[in-house]
Amino acid sequence: MAKIQILVGTVYGNALDVAEMCLQQLEQKGHEVELLRQPDIEDIPADTTDTLLVCTSTTGQGEIPDSLLKLYCQLQDRLPAMPHARYGLITLGDSSYDTFAEAGALMEALLEELKLQRVGSPLVIDACETMAPCEEAEPWVISWSDLLTESA
Ligand SMILES: Cc1cc2nc3c(=O)[nH]c(=O)nc-3n(C[C@H](O)[C@H](O)[C@H](O)COP(=O)(O)O)c2cc1C
Repeated sequence: MAKIQILVGTVYGNALDVAEMCLQQLEQKGHEVELLRQPDIEDIPADTTDTLLVCTSTTGQGEIPDSLLKLYCQLQDRLPAMPHARYGLITLGDSSYDTFAEAGALMEALLEELKLQRVGSPLVIDACETMAPCEEAEPWVISWSDLLTESA
């Protein structure tokens, strides 16, 4: 089973709701899970072997919410890379914006630069398509949990 840190980026709470559902599902699957609402670089040692699950909405004009922005900026300065860590990504956005789901794209680019290994395909939840982001994320996180276990 994996040790997982869920990193939350939210303005109005939708991404937090999704993150809390993921926490519950992943714990039920036997993983050891910590949910970080205001993640900081101190929470994530450079040599971590944990798995990070980024769960973020997009705000402003394609921006990362403040609750996650601090960590994003801190990680930009982080060297060396973190090749022992894995990650998954859930992005909430709204396709009526030109900058649809950009916050997730920014996080993915950074984590790739830091050499984390991605597990599974990222999930993008479009507020134009669903009013129930947790319902969309639930089957995704169950499959993601299986992938984590298989690739451990
Ligand atoms: C002020 C504002 C700006 C937004 N900007 C974007 C954006 O640039 N791109 C996008 O895909 N979605 C954008 N959204 C949509 C949100 O990402 C979406 O509603 C999401 O579900 C909000 O999640 P949260 O409650 O966790 O913040 C914006 C929403 C608001 C209210």
